[in-house]
Amino acid sequence: MSNQKFLRFPDGFIWGTATSAYQIEGAWNEDGKGPSVWDTFSHQSGKVYGGHTGDVAADHYHRWEEDVRIMAELGLKAYRFSISWPRVLSEGVGRVNPAGLDFYDRLVDALLERGIEPFVTLYHWDLPQALQDRGGWPNRDLVQYFADYARVVAERLGDRVTWWITHNEPFVVTILGYVFGDHPPGVQNFPQAIQVGYHLLLSHGYAVEALRATARRPIQVGITLNLSPVHSATDSEADRLAAQRMDGILNRMFLDPIFFGRYPEDMRALFGPLIPEIPPEDARYLITPIDFLGVNYYCRAVARHDPSMPIMELAQVHPEGSEYSQMWEIYPPGLYELLMRVWNDYRPKAIMITENGVPVPDGVDFDGRVRDERRIRYLRDHIAQVHKAITDGAPVRGYFVWSLMDNFEWNHGYKMRFGLVYVDYDNLARIIKDSGRWYAQVIRQNGVWV
Ligand code: FCB
Repeated sequence: MSNQKFLRFPDGFIWGTATSAYQIEGAWNEDGKGPSVWDTFSHQSGKVYGGHTGDVAADHYHRWEEDVRIMAELGLKAYRFSISWPRVLSEGVGRVNPAGLDFYDRLVDALLERGIEPFVTLYHWDLPQALQDRGGWPNRDLVQYFADYARVVAERLGDRVTWWITHNEPFVVTILGYVFGDHPPGVQNFPQAIQVGYHLLLSHGYAVEALRATARRPIQVGITLNLSPVHSATDSEADRLAAQRMDGILNRMFLDPIFFGRYPEDMRALFGPLIPEIPPEDARYLITPIDFLGVNYYCRAVARHDPSMPIMELAQVHPEGSEYSQMWEIYPPGLYELLMRVWNDYRPKAIMITENGVPVPDGVDFDGRVRDERRIRYLRDHIAQVHKAITDGAPVRGYFVWSLMDNFEWNHGYKMRFGLVYVDYDNLARIIKDSGRWYAQVIRQNGVWV
């Protein structure tokens, strides 16, 4: 005990957890909800591990009251969740489904009653299938449709919700959806991917304006990006250039348009005319000032030059001697490095860590407890890096664990467990894991022992 150190966080620091609609709600076709691209995709054979779908997921749509009680028990200051666009507008545009809005309305009230601040994400990848049928994100009309959807939600919740996030991780929609095809719509078309990325960012700007114009209280609006520091596998010039390319596609292709209204020069040099020219009327939207930048951090990336790989000519490396989780390397100092880089290069007004967490194969012990020591260690080590970044001047105002509870991890299905709360998929019972109890203590003490 004696050589332990307590890292105290600034007063009012926002401790939360995050989830997303498709990953927890279930009720995929209830109460007037239309299908999303994830419903379509997961129902096709061979797309998701084990043939899993989000049809039931954690059944949050029916168990939300219990889930809010658990959040209160953990002492959460905030809860980040996403709205299912096709639950609110089954066709993506036009007729509103009141039952869909009612669900989120009740959830927001229940959170506020318990002093838990709702952080609403408008788009966490579950595009209405009807809009995919109209061409999906490569179709520029979706920019306006997204702004219209933002308005519909803000008309209903904008009297109570302060914190709004337009998009979650446009990189993933772009690259996994349109380059690798691991996510819907399962396309492999790089030029289209660039279009998708552009329209997502543009729709973000449109939505920021729509939210500000509609909400009936002062609001805080941001966007969430998945960012990683990129290291090069060796000191060779070729590997260093590969790391720079990867940094461009992963980080700067999304940060630069939002903060500077332009694409990075080196990406333009690399991809030539594939990178859109940004007309001034679009740039105006792209750089609509945001109140905070949401950062999702899981790990660093390590790149090496690989001429056999198409487009970027690079491969990711998994360094020897590192610790790994079920999906990624575990690299806490990368969070500090990333936060300082984002702060130094882009100067966001505030930074929220909107996701950080780890997939480890948890199990229930004989006494009904889930002793997820590795998750506790992961979270402690990352929270310590956040503290260091705050000490060095980065304006980090909040931290959200991914995830409140175990859930549908996209193409990995239910194989990955990220929750502070264990979900038994046989009977949907919830068990607060040791990490959940540990996090409750972090929140109570507003800091962490390291
Ligand atoms: C992020 C996603 C989130 C979850 C975590 C593990 O990329 O935003 O939905 O899947 O990864």
